[in-house]
Amino acid sequence: MEELNGIFIPGNQPYSRHWFSICKLATYQNAIMISRRKFVRNATVLPSLLSHPPDWKMRSNLPLKPSGDVTLDEDFWHQIKMAYTVSPTLVNLNNGGVCPQPKVVQDAVERYNQLSNETPSYYMWRILDKGRESIREKLAGISGCSSDELAINRNASEALETVIFGLRLSKGDEVVLTRQDYPNMINAWKQREHRDGIILKWIDLDLPSEDANAITQSYVDAFSDATKVVHITHVINWMGQIIPARRIADAARERNIEVLIDGAHSFAHLDYQIPDLAGDYFGTSLHKWLCAPFGSGMLWVRKEKIRNLYPLFGSPAPEEDNIRKFEHLGTRSFAIEQGIGQAVDFHQMIGPERKFKRLHYLKNYWMQQLADVSGIEFLTSQDPEFGGAIGFFGVKNMDPDQIGEQLLNEYNIHVVPIKWEHFSGIRVTPNVYTLTTDLDRFVNAIRLIASKTSR
Ligand SMILES: Cc1ncc(COP(=O)(O)O)c(C=O)c1O
Repeated sequence: MEELNGIFIPGNQPYSRHWFSICKLATYQNAIMISRRKFVRNATVLPSLLSHPPDWKMRSNLPLKPSGDVTLDEDFWHQIKMAYTVSPTLVNLNNGGVCPQPKVVQDAVERYNQLSNETPSYYMWRILDKGRESIREKLAGISGCSSDELAINRNASEALETVIFGLRLSKGDEVVLTRQDYPNMINAWKQREHRDGIILKWIDLDLPSEDANAITQSYVDAFSDATKVVHITHVINWMGQIIPARRIADAARERNIEVLIDGAHSFAHLDYQIPDLAGDYFGTSLHKWLCAPFGSGMLWVRKEKIRNLYPLFGSPAPEEDNIRKFEHLGTRSFAIEQGIGQAVDFHQMIGPERKFKRLHYLKNYWMQQLADVSGIEFLTSQDPEFGGAIGFFGVKNMDPDQIGEQLLNEYNIHVVPIKWEHFSGIRVTPNVYTLTTDLDRFVNAIRLIASKTSR
């Protein structure tokens, strides 16, 4: 037994302190609920407490880096699973679209929503709205940047389209992007092409690839004197390829080309900080790998670039260098924004290095178990430099839709069949709550499906 702050917790595993922090957080949640009315009587106190629970200092002293390697420790990950409310019967292997929230996040949203509904204009605009600055600070903490560079919004599409539509581009200016980028972003760039006469220079990446030089070179080959922007999708959503964003950004910077990074699938998944990528603009959803409330996202703009970027929603001072000019959304869900705070705490409790190692391990686990299945083809690298949690495969002579349907109807396993550009197959995306026993179920199902087809 270990004693922490006078409370005994079982075991002396390296993670028991982290697990304790979940319980601590939950206790805090209950305490704040019970005494909510007492709190709201003092409206000046509540905003500062919204995202900084009373034990903030104590928790921030906990190690955020792994104190022991728990990658293979199923007991640890089982405890993480129990902090979610995921279905005990349907195995969800589509965490590539959107991720579930830990219970502590769901409860927070519910609580802030109920508070809002007591008197919306009072609690939302006078109380909860003040909590946004603390959320900004917390997000800056895990992003490794200044809070003055982060705007909170609703998703990656909104963040990235703010940049795509806000950049000062003129007829003839070139933008380099790939056919493997995300459709919303491609459509936004096409709209600019249509309206403003900019020129889109398309790259068709040969993926999967474990050649960072070759990938970088494909972008560089597309650069010209007219190139003003390069659009980089850090993790390609179709099959999980990690793109060497830093190398491409460095090559772009040498040529005075601005760099926009789509981090929808890399943020809180890969272990990095936003400035490491050397971009100028970065957008991500928070409802993917951060497991924050549905409909939460974030835009990072390098400080010196803020002034020249127009906001998507009109602001009283569109040319000021205040990041908050990108937040003139009108009425939105304050409960969702505030719930981001609990998601950041949960993410820090696991720790980014530990999280990436586990996610990468899970992907390789099922891929390696299926390697001997006849006709199987993998389109994702097992090297951590080129692939994380997302894995993609096809089986010769089998339609991905049929595989997806059989997995769901016969084995209660949810995946996503994809047919896009050159890719046709099944995308499999585990998360921190996925156990190897869940993957064993999936592996057995694929073996059975493939063996029936080859008969
Ligand atoms: C690479 C990439 N970019 C952007 C998005 C858009 O994210 P959202 O729907 O949260 O705006 C997605 C969504 O899956 C994505 O995979």
